[in-house]
Amino acid sequence: MAKVSKPAKEAKPSKESKLKKEAAAPKATKEAKPAKVQPPVKEEKAAKEPKAPKLNHIGLDAEKTKELAKKLNELLANYQVFYMNARGYHYNIRGEKFFELHLKFEELYSNLILKADEIAERVLTLGETPIHAYSGYLKISDIKEKQNVTSPKEAVSEILNSFATLLARQRVLLDLSGDANDEGTNAQMSDYIREQEKLVWMYSAYLGK
Ligand SMILES: [Fe+2]
Repeated sequence: MAKVSKPAKEAKPSKESKLKKEAAAPKATKEAKPAKVQPPVKEEKAAKEPKAPKLNHIGLDAEKTKELAKKLNELLANYQVFYMNARGYHYNIRGEKFFELHLKFEELYSNLILKADEIAERVLTLGETPIHAYSGYLKISDIKEKQNVTSPKEAVSEILNSFATLLARQRVLLDLSGDANDEGTNAQMSDYIREQEKLVWMYSAYLGK
């Protein structure tokens, strides 16, 4: 039987070469260790992360929605008073422009009552109750009742003032709804503003402005 030669034993590194290796390798010192990340203190965390708002049935901030519904009710009140005023202009207008303005004011009040309905339904969609009594509207409307207006110029001037009130209120609602991520109210206000700005141009043109 052939004698199997044992593999030569690996030469043990000399003490000297071991020292050399250690010198070449960077020695891990205590200072080089990565600093342990401290978990954030609970109080600090609470201060950085604002408390999550309470959401309502359609996923909107409940508190902001209440404020929006209140402002929408105020807008509704203004629409309702403006609507009844426009009916009065439609009935009582006099003069050679009667047929033209009688029809124009009908178009106006029909559009105002349509929007009043949409606003009231938006209030309901937001989970609140729309005001549905004239006594309630009159208490909070900026637009006041106008009676016995027969002059075309006076009627159109009053209409322009009323549109200015609606536009100002709708722009406030546009900002508030944007802040509350309420796209429904925001889009509604945006449509009304664009439409009524054009009407302001037309009624102003009638007055020669
Ligand atoms: Fe009529």
